[in-house]
Amino acid sequence: MYSLCPKTKMQNIFSIRIMKIGTLLVLAVTALNFSSAQSTSSIRDGIFSDAQAARGAEAYSTSCASCHSVDLRGNSNSPSLLGLSFMFIWEGKSLGELYTKMSTEMPTDRPGILTQQTYADILAFILESNEFATGDNDLTSDISVLDEIPITSQ
Ligand code: HEC
Repeated sequence: MYSLCPKTKMQNIFSIRIMKIGTLLVLAVTALNFSSAQSTSSIRDGIFSDAQAARGAEAYSTSCASCHSVDLRGNSNSPSLLGLSFMFIWEGKSLGELYTKMSTEMPTDRPGILTQQTYADILAFILESNEFATGDNDLTSDISVLDEIPITSQ
């Protein structure tokens, strides 16, 4: 090392710095990947697809709109499925609880009449209507997965 001329020594120090920065970058990217892998259980993370929400919209208009109204705002007999009043009830609970409510009690005149897949589609439509982001994959109807996803406001 002592025999190195000052210029080479500087270059060495410089390249060690670059290596350190490189290592930091790798760590940062790894950390980011890790957090995005974890946040599959966040409601804001695009947990349903556009196509699924579109299917849900169809099913909603056939099976739910008569009571909860076409714009999801409800009426004097049926609660709104939209915005603040909806979040007031559901924030802090899980998607699993909301799914169970829908799939075992709705429509009130024929509870549980739809397929599990259709209830998941309608849930996707309700989330989209509440302005949650869409993603690449469909929302599952698997209750153990839905139970792990907390409902949080935007
Ligand atoms: C015949 C009328 C009727 C139909 C059809 C109907 N609902 Fe409801 N729904 C109600 C009433 C009344 C309530 C409030 C009483 C309760 O929570 O059980 C309610 C409550 C809800 C709630 C809980 C809302 C809250 O904030 O407490 C959800 C979610 C819901 N309905 C979803 C649906 C979905 C999805 C469909 C279509 C599959 C549907 N409903 C069809 C009448 C209806």
